[in-house]
Order: sequence, then C-alpha cells, then structure tokens
Amino acid sequence: MLNRRQLLRRGAAAGLLVAAPAGLIVGGRPGSAEAATAAFTVPLAVPRPLRPARRAGRDLYRLVTQEGEAAILPGARTRIRGFGGTLAPLIVAHRDRPVVVELGNRLAEPFALHLHGGHVPVHSDGHPKDQIEPGGRRTYCYPNAQRAMTLWMHDHTHHAHAENIYRGLAATYLLTDRFEEQLPLPKGQYDVVLQLRDAKFDENNALVYDMHRPEDRPTILVNARPRPYFEVAARKYRLRLVNTANERGFFLRLSDGTQAGAELVQIAADGGLLPAPAPTGALALWPGERNEVVVDFSRYPVGTELVLENLAAFEGETPEVMRFDVVRTAPDPSSVPAALRPAPDLGTPAVRRDFHLAFDPASGQHLINGKPFDISRVDIRPRLNVTEVWTIRNSDTLGIPHSLHPHLEQFRVLSRDGRPPAPGEAGLKDTITVMAGQSAEIALRFTDYTGPYMYHCHMLGHQMMGMMGQMEIVR
Ligand code: C2O
Ligand code: CU
Ligand code: CU
Repeated sequence: MLNRRQLLRRGAAAGLLVAAPAGLIVGGRPGSAEAATAAFTVPLAVPRPLRPARRAGRDLYRLVTQEGEAAILPGARTRIRGFGGTLAPLIVAHRDRPVVVELGNRLAEPFALHLHGGHVPVHSDGHPKDQIEPGGRRTYCYPNAQRAMTLWMHDHTHHAHAENIYRGLAATYLLTDRFEEQLPLPKGQYDVVLQLRDAKFDENNALVYDMHRPEDRPTILVNARPRPYFEVAARKYRLRLVNTANERGFFLRLSDGTQAGAELVQIAADGGLLPAPAPTGALALWPGERNEVVVDFSRYPVGTELVLENLAAFEGETPEVMRFDVVRTAPDPSSVPAALRPAPDLGTPAVRRDFHLAFDPASGQHLINGKPFDISRVDIRPRLNVTEVWTIRNSDTLGIPHSLHPHLEQFRVLSRDGRPPAPGEAGLKDTITVMAGQSAEIALRFTDYTGPYMYHCHMLGHQMMGMMGQMEIVR
C-alpha cells in the first residue's frame, strides 16, 4: 500500500506519463500483486441499450435509483446502488431526438441526475439545489441538439454524489448522428463501451467506500466485472473508454508481446470525433473523461491474447485491466478515414478568466481560486454567445492532479503549458486534467441556455471537499 507521499509522487509520475510522446513506452510491471480477484476469469459484460418505455417523437425512459444485488465478483452477490438495481446500463440516443428520463429516487439518500457532456436546459442539469429527496421524482429532458459523442450519467448531489457513483450509479449515454453514422468506422457489435473504474471489496464481497483512501481500491472493474476477458474477432473494433472512477487516472497500453504494444488509433475524446485519427501506443484517461480508439485485431492470429494494462497502477497492484482474446476471423468492411470531424470555430475570445486549483493543507479543503464551493455564491457570470478563454492552473503544493469540468458546453484546448495540444486533444472536450505545476488554456462559448450551472474538479473527493464553483449564464 502506498502512503500519502508515495501516492502524490505517483500522481506526478502519471503526469509525466501523460506528457510522454505518443508511442513511447514507459514504466514497467509493479512487483508483488495482491489483487482481490484473479484476472481474466469472467467474461466482459457488453451492455445492451435500455429500451425506452415509449417512443413518440422522443424517447421516454422510466428509471429508478435503488439498491440491489449484482454479480460483480465471481460466485458472489454484492449490494450496489444502481438504475433499476443494475450496473453500467447504456442509453443510445440520436441527435435532435429528445430523450426524457422520468426518475424515481428509491435510495435512502438524495439523488440528482446529471448528463455529463450534455447541452441541456438548467432544470435538467442535476444542479444540487434540484436534488430529488428519497421517495421523490423528477423529469429530465435532454434535447440532444449536439454532436455525436459518448456521454455518461451520474449523480450530482453535493456530498452524496461520490459514494452514489462509487456504489454503481453511472450509466453510459451514447449519442449518434448522421455525420458519424456515414463514416465507415466499426459499428454494431464491433462498437463497444468500456466503463473503467476501481473498487475495494471486503472479505464478504461487499463494496468498501472510504473517501479518504482512494488509492486503496485495487480491483479494476470494466463494465462492472473484475478484470474481464473479451472474445473478439480478428478485425477492427471501436472501443469507447469511459472513466467513471472517483479518483483514479488510467494510463492505458494494449500489450501484444511487442516492445511498442498494439497501436491504439484514437478517434474521439469527450466531445466526439477528433479532426483526424491520432495513433498512439498509450493513452491517459482521467476521471470523467472519455477516449475512443480503434484497434485492429486482424494484425494478430486467432489464439492471440492481448492485455490492456494500466501503466499508472499503484505499487502492489497488478496492471491488468482486461484481456482481449482473438478467437475467430470475421469480414471487416470498416476503416478509419484520414479526416474525421473538424472542430468548430468558437469565435474570437472576448473574456479571459483564471482558475487556480489547489488542495489547502491548512483547512483540508480543495479550493478553486482560494475558495471552497458555496451553493449560495455565484462565482462567475458568463454571457451567452461570448467566447471566453479560461486559464486553468494547478497550483497544488502537494503534487495532486486536478481537473476542470464546466457543465453545458464542450471546449477546445488551446494550449498546455504554452504548447499546442496533442492530436488526441485537438477536438472537443469537457473535462481537462492538469498536473501540479502545470497549466492549460481552453476556449469555450455558452449558447442557448441561461441559469446556474456548475464547474468543478472531477476527482469526486476533491469536488466534495470544495473544488466546485457556480456560474450563472446570463444574456
Ligand atoms: Cu461528470 Cu458535474 O459532472
Ligand atoms: Cu458534467
Ligand atoms: Cu482536484
């Protein structure tokens, strides 16, 4: 087990990994492995899309948040909190076809549904002031008037959110559109959502939640199964990686027995398709973020096993995340076009803002510009249709990584430490993670909706301990 100091150093190391050039292989296997469950003993569960209760111009879903029992570890049942008592569900939505979610909260704690990455009116954003009390209900409307991308849904109450998400309340929300459907990318069963997170289980297979020990969550779950295996055909797959962990960053590499590892062709990030595919040997995925890659398994003979590894595993953990077993051949009409989707022009910046992110050892709080979150305070008032540039500076003195996630709009990364963004960050994003001592500049423009929305660090413990602000979008 790492102590606090080692943990922080590890965070810094992970930061270096992020900055490593594409294809560079860094790190190695940590020593002793004391994983809770042996790797690759359970198959990956591929989520099937939920069926709407009604389809009439819009898709209506009736969901309840409730406790339930789920099969996570082999041969065991674990108490969880889920949508309808299940884990890692999937909603598939189409651009300009609204989704309505009628949510009943049957938990013993409050719940506020947030569509992460969603361009939604304020009453549907899951603001903590709109939380649903136990036994209550609320209707959320998502217009889906935005580009195709992989989004996710999670709790946004203040204080209960981290544990609610940890105990299972995270759903994937896949938004498609014409533009993307017409591209020859892998589709159908070859387009797979992989929700990544960590967890800790006790001897009775119960989930242990200790917000002060995020480094002690040694079991990696993919779609709520521990280090699963996935039988694939020898052809191209689109893998949609979603990090729903409270605080763990992944630095992913697909080991194929060669020095370089398998080629991961990144095609999309938080805000959908990149302008152009970005081939890499390793990929960072911080909490809240999504990255999508195409992997061509036809490069390997049937019988090959490839292991997805986390190069940023803590000492004492095993790096394995999941295994891909090439078990059959299949025709492959798919391809990755040389050009994907240009990033939109967000206009000429007229407003600049600074965000300093840091843990404050004196108060034990995580702060933005020296202040902890206060629901009765409005921190900034961006105007509709005015382009802003935000400088995000991680001034943490303990080396802790932080992120910033503004609700409502996707942004473009202008620079990191004064240098242009890597190809994998050249599209739209909604969550950006910055290592201690580093900075990033983003451009964004709020459109369509006014009212109070949040921005915050997506390390959920930090967010709970103050690292959140409130912006009121005004005309
Ligand atoms: Cu993933 Cu405020 O959100
Ligand atoms: Cu969000
Ligand atoms: Cu943080």
